[in-house]
Amino acid sequence: MTTDPLIWLDERAADRELSGLRRRLRPRDPHPPTIDLASNDYLGLVRHPEVVEAAVAALRRWGAGATGSRLVTGTTAEHELLERELAEFVGAEAGLVFASGYAANLGVVTALAGRGSLVVSDAGSHASLVDACRLSRARVAITAHRDVDAVARALATRTEERALVLTDSVFSADGDLAPLAALHRVARHHGAVLVVDEAHGLGVRGAGGRGLVHETGLAGAPDVVITATLSKSLATQGGAVLAGARVRAHLIDAARTFIFDTGLAPAAVGAARAALRVLRREPERADRVLARAADLARIADVPVPESAVVPVILGDARVSYEAALECRARGVEVGCFRPPSVPEGTSRLRLTARADLSVDDLAVIGQVLTEVLARARGRETVSA
Ligand SMILES: Cc1ncc(COP(=O)(O)O)c(C=O)c1O
Repeated sequence: MTTDPLIWLDERAADRELSGLRRRLRPRDPHPPTIDLASNDYLGLVRHPEVVEAAVAALRRWGAGATGSRLVTGTTAEHELLERELAEFVGAEAGLVFASGYAANLGVVTALAGRGSLVVSDAGSHASLVDACRLSRARVAITAHRDVDAVARALATRTEERALVLTDSVFSADGDLAPLAALHRVARHHGAVLVVDEAHGLGVRGAGGRGLVHETGLAGAPDVVITATLSKSLATQGGAVLAGARVRAHLIDAARTFIFDTGLAPAAVGAARAALRVLRREPERADRVLARAADLARIADVPVPESAVVPVILGDARVSYEAALECRARGVEVGCFRPPSVPEGTSRLRLTARADLSVDDLAVIGQVLTEVLARARGRETVSA
């Protein structure tokens, strides 16, 4: 008997269709007519001439790719300059760049933890940290969101000698902040290393966008490891680990996503260096992101966030999806997060602020969001 071994895919797709959970790729317009509240280009740098020119210059000098792992085909001076510049910016001793933020998280957690260690991770940690836990082969304890006492208990009762505590600095779905000072106190007390993913903190929190670790006064602490992505505030692609020099040296020896992955593309290196240069020169961009996020929150009638992420929880997946489609049809592109990205019953529109949103943009956003949300919230009440 021959049966189609992938028949279950059709059943799953039908189930997702029914629950409003199908995901669809749609073509991207290079110059979309819509106002962008869905991307992570927080500082509005993705088309900044200096950033684009730097990417082009790197392409011309080095070609279209890194050609291999940096351990095989060599590193470029620009990669090392970017690492030093990023580290200096956030106040760390050293840096190592990866092909993505996802790879940076997988690399650092698997290199610092393994069989015989404990990894304690916030329930709201990004998927890349979740996967890093799974890959690490360490014992994993997931603690309730922002629950420092639970972290302390997990560390205090461990039998393992080594432990890592993982958290996002700014949580990607809710935009709330990790209690970094308290987490660090607890981690230090129990001899654990605190790993902080600054994907949404870099360029937004801290003086001139130096991140939440810097803002909390933890920059340069020997037991704090920062991970970052270059794909949000820095407007390109790639990731980084920013920590002590001996952590960097260990990652070069032991992080599989560094050793066995092609190096960060030179164009991304050039773009990230230029974006960081712009941010250093124009630190007010970081403040503007938070001011625009507050504007968006007021329009959507939700609490003012502490980051660029403005969640507008509607509950039902289908209601959220249809509200997002309606926003787009009316000229405003918003994110839509549904399970499994967020817990069941908390589907939402996810608005992200940009430093370069204009007064005119905000006027359009105000009109569209007010009407779409009134309708969506009405549907929620009816279906409740
Ligand atoms: C908190 C967080 N960490 C890591 C990543 C992964 O970064 P990258 O897109 O560079 O792989 C993302 C999102 O992309 C994120 O939101």
